[in-house]
Amino acid sequence: MQPVPVTEETLFLAIESSCDDTGVAIFRGPVLLGQLTAAQLEHAEWGGVVPEVASRAHQRALLPLVEKILSQTGTNKEDLAAIAYTRGPGLLGALLVGQQFAKGLAMALGIPLVPVNHMQAHVLAHYIKEPNPPFPFLCLTVSGGHTQIVRVDSALQMEVIGQTLDDAAGEAFDKCAKMLGLPYPGGPLIDRHAASGNPNAVAFPVADVAGLDYSFSGLKTAVLYYLQGKDSLYKNDRLDDICASVQHTIIKTLLKKLELAATQTGIRHVALAGGVSANKGLRLALKELSIKKGWQTYIPDFEFCTDNAAMIGMAGWFLMQAGIYGELTDEPLVRG
Ligand code: KG4
Ligand code: ZN
Repeated sequence: MQPVPVTEETLFLAIESSCDDTGVAIFRGPVLLGQLTAAQLEHAEWGGVVPEVASRAHQRALLPLVEKILSQTGTNKEDLAAIAYTRGPGLLGALLVGQQFAKGLAMALGIPLVPVNHMQAHVLAHYIKEPNPPFPFLCLTVSGGHTQIVRVDSALQMEVIGQTLDDAAGEAFDKCAKMLGLPYPGGPLIDRHAASGNPNAVAFPVADVAGLDYSFSGLKTAVLYYLQGKDSLYKNDRLDDICASVQHTIIKTLLKKLELAATQTGIRHVALAGGVSANKGLRLALKELSIKKGWQTYIPDFEFCTDNAAMIGMAGWFLMQAGIYGELTDEPLVRG
């Protein structure tokens, strides 16, 4: 399991299994040859991600996905030089499945492991395809599990300068959607309804948190109180307006701190990552703000924004170049 010298020709496999998407990717050096993602639909009926269901779904999906990506990219597994995988943060059981699979295959092939931090990988997803943001840049990572503002000084040197104290932005979208009777994950549905609604119809509060941190639990409570005593007829009637107002509040909250971070750091290159970056209102608002502020913005293709193995491979590539590998005795890092 000695690390090999990495070259632009080095072939390696990447695995993502931190939450409810099973992802595999093959890289040749820094170039993505292909990736596959299996989204777990099993959670919809429960209204949220069920950890044990996620672990078992990863177990079922992983081997066929790896076989498929090897064949799609014309790669022999014997030619793989390393395996990058998500070590954390994430759900323990889900991480264990990916890690154990990676360990087993690495042992069988006699190749090294490259443990990757999932949050750093979200940031480094910006290097899979051009345009790549120049260092230093700020990255707002917004998904179902994360809300962070990261100052990125190099591929391996980054600092979280702001983050949520409670719910993640995507979680806020999903929980508000659930109260409105929309199925999980509700974020994309709020986005769709918001397009025909009035964002100023209901004035939900923007949390007043110190510094660059976020809080979304107050919004959830405000929506709950707002809907109390209102029947489903009313909810249906006002659905577009309520969705537009919820979305407007989340976007306002996100961009307020991002603007403050840019002012404090003087950094003008701003990137977006995570599943919530698909939100049309957020994209538009960020575009408008960047024109006003003279920022350069970077938003990767959606397949690289949501949880995926290409970003794990990209991060793995930077780690391998720096000679940073893992051990067979490594355990998952649930908190990263
Ligand atoms: O990055 P991701 O696929 O998985 C993690 O949570 O790590 O993000 C999923 C989250 C969900 O909360 C989903 O509701 C949200 O991203 N999302 C959206 C949109 N598309 C996905 N939220 C708002 N608007 C969207 N268009
Ligand atoms: Zn993620």
